[in-house]
Amino acid sequence: MNYYSRHGLIGPGDGLDSSRRSSETVSKTALVTGGAGFLGSHLCNRLMRDGARVVCLDNFTTGSFENIAHLIDDPHFATVRQDVCEPLLAEVDEIYNLACPASPPHYQADPVQTMKTNVLGALNVLELAQRRDIPVFQASTSEVYGDPQLHPQPEGYWGHVNPIGPRSCYDEGKRAAETLFFDFARMHGTKIKVVRIFNTYGPRMRPDDGRVVSNFIVQALKGDDITIYGDGSQTRSFCYVDDLIEGFVRFMRAPAHVMGPINLGNPGEFTIRELADLVVDITNSRSRVVHVSLPIDDPRQRRPDITRADRLLGWQPRIPLVDGLARTIAYFDILLSAGRKALPEVVA
Ligand SMILES: NC(=O)c1ccc[n+]([C@@H]2O[C@H](COP(=O)([O-])OP(=O)(O)OC[C@H]3O[C@@H](n4cnc5c(N)ncnc54)[C@H](O)[C@@H]3O)[C@@H](O)[C@H]2O)c1
Repeated sequence: MNYYSRHGLIGPGDGLDSSRRSSETVSKTALVTGGAGFLGSHLCNRLMRDGARVVCLDNFTTGSFENIAHLIDDPHFATVRQDVCEPLLAEVDEIYNLACPASPPHYQADPVQTMKTNVLGALNVLELAQRRDIPVFQASTSEVYGDPQLHPQPEGYWGHVNPIGPRSCYDEGKRAAETLFFDFARMHGTKIKVVRIFNTYGPRMRPDDGRVVSNFIVQALKGDDITIYGDGSQTRSFCYVDDLIEGFVRFMRAPAHVMGPINLGNPGEFTIRELADLVVDITNSRSRVVHVSLPIDDPRQRRPDITRADRLLGWQPRIPLVDGLARTIAYFDILLSAGRKALPEVVA
């Protein structure tokens, strides 16, 4: 694999060999797959701030170069355009596997590619982790619980998932990836960390992302109708991105026997109608709220049980929805006024 940075083309064993550190403060090299996406770009920021070198691997299908443009001049950052379905070679000390489109319109656009990304991507990061004997982190999802019959959802709940519906490429793909992670841990002693992420929002979500928070904000800022699927009484929990990334980092630093799965999300539960009203309030928008039919297999309720994250990682979300929404709205306001798809670090 070759890495691209402002400082030239670097191959394995070359400039990013973590055994030859250029600075005392650089502790390790992390590979972040999906590093140009919403969560991945925030994770790259955080890891670099903590003194790591970062290799961001992305095929840029839903991610954006602008999300990482502010990092590209840093000699401790490199990016490589590659599909995670291709075998991986990299001299790194830890892996975060985030590569996969996360919003329904994007993952349903090519369901076969979504399933391949989940399964072959997991296999490739696991094989690399096993070869190098390094920890590997998997960004799994609350979608593994499907339309849950247990509320809130603890990690011991096995879920209620349709295996053949339009969401299955994502839900079942993530479940299969979890299976591979735990099989590698049992068969090879691979150091795994599996996190189940619940709805997360914040700056650097795409305006055309299709997820509820960005949809409502963009509609409110443009003065368009705010479209609620169904009657809006279905509930969701919303975690601000900084809280989530703190959980990622704590999990990776936790002792090796802490493998997960661990739920990370904000247990505050809101109806979709309440979310729409909050967004209209904060943006001072004149948008009307309209109702359209519910998508197939849309879950009725979602709320994480975060007892395990609290006990094992000392983690709880800190940022209330109203504050997180205000920060996210400020980002989208500048983004839309500038007619851009993403914005650099200065405002994110
Ligand atoms: N944001 C959330 O609320 C949420 C919730 C649950 C799980 N997750 C998981 O977290 C991860 C990141 O989600 P996000 O919200 O940042 O989504 P995103 O779409 O913004 O980021 C995904 C990134 O992966 C890249 N990618 C997609 N397929 C790839 C492939 N085959 N090879 C290489 N790169 C590829 C995309 O270009 C993008 O940069 C995903 O795995 C997602 O399933 C996110």
